[in-house]
Order: sequence, then structure tokens, then C-alpha cells
Amino acid sequence: MSHFDTKAKDWDKGNTRVNGAQVIADAIAKRHNFHKEMEIIDFGVGTGLLGFAIAPEVKKVYGVDTSKKMLEQVEEKNSESLSIEPIFQDIIKTPLTQTFDALISSMTLHHIENLELFFSTIYKNIKEDGFIAIADLELEDGTFHSDNTGVYHFGFAQENLVEVAQKCGFKNVCFENINTINKPHRDFGVFLLTATK
Ligand SMILES: C[S@@+](CC[C@H](N)C(=O)[O-])C[C@H]1O[C@@H](n2cnc3c(N)ncnc32)[C@H](O)[C@@H]1O
Repeated sequence: MSHFDTKAKDWDKGNTRVNGAQVIADAIAKRHNFHKEMEIIDFGVGTGLLGFAIAPEVKKVYGVDTSKKMLEQVEEKNSESLSIEPIFQDIIKTPLTQTFDALISSMTLHHIENLELFFSTIYKNIKEDGFIAIADLELEDGTFHSDNTGVYHFGFAQENLVEVAQKCGFKNVCFENINTINKPHRDFGVFLLTATK
């Protein structure tokens, strides 16, 4: 059972995650155009908070996740007019052969141990003129999560992440602060990294 399986049912409760995903969706849409021909992938889709926000703008959203229970929440939300196709696969260990117009991702990168392997793998899954848009925490002190199970990075420093993305072939790499998550003990910055192939 994945660590996230136990969290799936209550993931969308409260406003923090729901509003946070909408801020990310708006920030991505401001920087990159979506259109009805596009097939995109939401990496670490969870319950689909980001993917469903973008889905009306594109032809199809695929949602990849290693938690079956998270993907069950996606399936429960799927309707005839708006849906995400769930993919239960660790696409870093077992890469997809399909290519996409864009990869979007929210709050998943800190769960990925080997960043170079991640960026070099997804590079192959992006079409020639495609883009990536990845949001996650800026460098933090390890207190964002009450339980750091499965957390490989306490946020990210701009220079390190930009360097890895560029090393793996991405161009026009841009890292910007787009949000702040307020917790009682401190604030946490959220960045959006965008890049083109
Ligand atoms: C913090 S949650 C974010 C979920 C969603 N993107 C959101 O913003 O609400 C991280 C998600 O990444 C998934 N995940 C962790 N490692 C993964 C991997 N190697 N491949 C795909 N998904 C992964 C988890 O199962 C979980 O659903």
C-alpha cells in the first residue's frame, strides 16, 4: 500500500489543497497556451485537483500516479463531460512510450528521489514543441509535512532545479514564486518551473 493510499479519501477536504491547485492551474495557463488538440499528462495526479482544472482546455488529460486509491478518487470524479484517464504506473521505473504535448505536476516532485532520472525520462515523453510546468515547494526546513515519509527533498533551490532541467535537455527553463502556503508555524513558498523541449 502506498503512503498516499491512506490519505486519498480525505485529500480534497478543506480549502488549502483545492485552492492551491487552482492557483497553480491559473499560473500555468498564464504562461502557456492550452488548446483542444492537446494531450497532456498530470504527473502525480493525486485526486486530479490540477488535472481537472486544466481538462476543459485540452483534448485529453492522462493522470499518472503510484497510489491506486488516489486514482480511484479520480475515477469517482470522472464524468462524461470531464475526465482524466488514470495510469497506475511508476513511469520513472517503467517509462511510458507515448509522447504528450505537455506535462503538468503539482506538489509531487519532492517525492521523487532521483531528479536527473525524472527529468531525463520525461524529456522523452514530451513532443518536440511541448512544455513542462511543475509546481512544488521552495526550499523549506523539513517542517512542511508533519510526517516526512516518502519526502526526498525539503523543497527545492532555484539554481539546483534549473541546472538539472537544463542538463536533461530542457530549454527556456523558468522558476518563479507563484504562491505562499500559510501554516500556523510559518509560511512556505510555492514555485512554478516551466520549460520547453
Ligand atoms: C502531494 S500529492 C499531490 C497530488 C496532486 N498533484 C495535488 O496537487 O493534489 C503527491 C502525489 O504524487 C504521487 N506520487 C508519489 N510518487 C510518485 C511517482 N514516483 N510517480 C507518480 N506519482 C507519484 C502520490 O501518490 C500522490 O498522489
